[in-house]
Amino acid sequence: MLRFETAGESHGECLVATLTGLPAGVPISIDAINRDLRRRQQGYGRGGRMKIETDAAHIVSGVRHSRTIGSPIAILIQNRDWKNWTEALPVEDIDGGEDKKKPVTRPRPGHADLAGAIKYDFQDARYILERASARETTARVAVGALAKALLREFGIEILSHVLAVGSARLGRTATWEELVALDLKDEVLLRCVDAEAEAAMKAVVDEAYRTGDTVGGVFEVVAHNLPVGLGSHITWDTRLDGRLAQAIVSMQAVKGVEIGFAAEGAENFGSKVQDTIHYDREERRFFRGDNRAGGVEGGMTNGQDLLVRGLLKPISTLRRPLESVDLTTREAALAAYERSDICVVPAAGIIGEAMVAIVLAQAFLEKFGGDSLTETKRNYEGYQRQVREF
Ligand SMILES: Cc1cc2nc3c(=O)[nH]c(=O)nc-3n(C[C@H](O)[C@H](O)[C@H](O)COP(=O)(O)O)c2cc1C
Repeated sequence: MLRFETAGESHGECLVATLTGLPAGVPISIDAINRDLRRRQQGYGRGGRMKIETDAAHIVSGVRHSRTIGSPIAILIQNRDWKNWTEALPVEDIDGGEDKKKPVTRPRPGHADLAGAIKYDFQDARYILERASARETTARVAVGALAKALLREFGIEILSHVLAVGSARLGRTATWEELVALDLKDEVLLRCVDAEAEAAMKAVVDEAYRTGDTVGGVFEVVAHNLPVGLGSHITWDTRLDGRLAQAIVSMQAVKGVEIGFAAEGAENFGSKVQDTIHYDREERRFFRGDNRAGGVEGGMTNGQDLLVRGLLKPISTLRRPLESVDLTTREAALAAYERSDICVVPAAGIIGEAMVAIVLAQAFLEKFGGDSLTETKRNYEGYQRQVREF
């Protein structure tokens, strides 16, 4: 069982992640982890926080001489902003600390503030938003980079791009080669493969900046070079599509998920939607007329690229705040505002990559097992031989 956990608050000292269950011998590069952390920080529309942070992973266990040793991996990522919050959020109560607190008593519609304050019995929503914040996803991205390291050993690669920001859409599919080229670009604007569509997306973000508003959108994660048969049709909880959906919707602000062309499929007749099956006698392999299913049929990978989309609502902290109620006075009040992102769709794509990588690595290890990478590879190669001979 590959399992992970994260801890840490937005303005706490650091974020922590543990990952247990990677086989021994997987090559791990800190540079590759930090590269993904950097990719998560990018994109047009981010707030001031990302200018303060330069996220870097500090591995404290589970990796020696650049390879996993089979023990749980623990990673720390410092919050540089912590130095500005040591008095507001100390671990131990301090004398006179009351004045230094930065309470949030005007809950933001759309955030975790009100439901969390009621549920955990706090008059100050600060204690809720500190953990609800998507700063937590920094730890997920670090874990995702470890999952990608395993998958890469089997030629599986995962990338993402932006399909829509508000009403501005790409309006076509992107090829794997386009995604690879996009990933090599130094400057990330909205991580869209098409310059014209990206300019339209930027105009939407600019409008949100101008009007004190925020904007959501759609990202797509693509996993390339997958074997047939990760996940299974046999029970509800082994179906890969269901597990991917849970992983993607567990991301902050993601309210919908689509595998392949689900929405389009729901509007069309079956004859236009299913991916026809063909056979190449020379190469002795099956192939498909299209990839509208997004690489999953019956809860199993079918060997096509996996296409998973996340639909993000707009960020709920608005410079022009919405109506709310003050928790202390119960009087009508405008919602709290603190420095915030305006558009996070490109960053969400990177977090989506991490979540997809983790789910795929879990399904991969369920199928092929192994305490060492050598053993996993032997099992994988045996299965691939069986598939070739099918
Ligand atoms: C990459 C990323 C960055 C985010 N940044 C902010 C932010 O700056 N301000 C904010 O109010 N919400 C932000 N959010 C969204 C909130 O974390 C989220 O809306 C909140 O935790 C409530 O959860 P829910 O929207 O999933 O219901 C961000 C989400 C993501 C994925």
